[in-house]
Amino acid sequence: MHTRRIGILTGGGDAPGLNAVIRAVVKHGAGQKGWEVVGSEDAFNGFLDDPPRLLNLTPRTCRGLLHRGGTILGTTNKSDPFAWRDPDGAARDRSAELAERIRAEGIEGLIVVGGDGTQRIGWRLMRERGVPVVGVPKTIDNDLAYTDYTFGFWSAVEVATEALDRLHTTAEAHDRVMLLEVMGRDAGWIALHAGIAGGADCIAIPEIPYDPDRFVDKILERRRRNRLFTVMVVAEGAYPREGTPEPGRVAHGRGHIAAGGAARLLARLLAERIDVETRVTVLGHLQRGGGPVPFDRVLATRFGVAAVDLVDRDRWGELVRLDHHRIDSVPLAEVAEAQHFVDPDGQLVAAARGVGIEFGG
Ligand code: F6P
Repeated sequence: MHTRRIGILTGGGDAPGLNAVIRAVVKHGAGQKGWEVVGSEDAFNGFLDDPPRLLNLTPRTCRGLLHRGGTILGTTNKSDPFAWRDPDGAARDRSAELAERIRAEGIEGLIVVGGDGTQRIGWRLMRERGVPVVGVPKTIDNDLAYTDYTFGFWSAVEVATEALDRLHTTAEAHDRVMLLEVMGRDAGWIALHAGIAGGADCIAIPEIPYDPDRFVDKILERRRRNRLFTVMVVAEGAYPREGTPEPGRVAHGRGHIAAGGAARLLARLLAERIDVETRVTVLGHLQRGGGPVPFDRVLATRFGVAAVDLVDRDRWGELVRLDHHRIDSVPLAEVAEAQHFVDPDGQLVAAARGVGIEFGG
């Protein structure tokens, strides 16, 4: 009988749980269904490089992966075959060549594990080049539409929450205003969840452009209650609303963040207004590194198994997702176009406001 040969790749910024997805795909696809599973290194680059960088993945070679951070396949956010950049900077479309190489390898279709950018490429490959694709949503930012959560998100929230717990004690000891900058270029999910979990006093997110005076009022109000310190979480994409000096927003990845650092900017705006001692901590890639928390291990495993089941039923062109605790799938065509932002009027923000957290707007 003909053995099915399926490709898998991880694209975009890494997220805890990528290896757990690979493991689940290999265990279910190769181990239980008898398929060949081929991994492309560094997203689509593995197919395009000469010689190709492809790995035969078997349950044996994928042992011990569940708790490991990073991705054994490597990843990159500079691998768009439709807008390929040569080393001299020249741009060209290599998507037809990519499709040809995938076919030449005898690969029937791809399981594409990635965020919005990678899923968009996957969908274009299917629509314009006829390469069958199933998507698995990943990003610590949790800003992909149509899924309750992407895997990696809760691991990032855990790191940010622990950082807040630690900042709290030193903030209190020194009567300082501590600003923790977390990832979230376009969406404030990490800042919002970590801020609530870590008992922050203020949260700044891109969805709610802030008025620095409101944060000043919060600091002063706390001082009047003899709470002489304040802990603030700032998403890297947060910015002051119009009317306050615009720091300028710079391109970052596919989105924009405040030039010079969102937390640093807010610290400056506070210091211009009141006598305050601030300290800024930028958590950066600590949020992406390390292994996944149990929730992300479970979600990644469910996603990997579900992706294989979609391929098994020839349901190409779908993205697996978590919808109200249940795994199902949605057409890639819909997802590739939509991002998922914090609703400023939604329940989570209301809960945060309900315990006195100030958003600056
Ligand atoms: O993928 C999301 C993200 O973590 C963003 O929050 C962040 O701005 C970006 O990736 C940084 O990615 P890199 O440093 O890998 O370009």
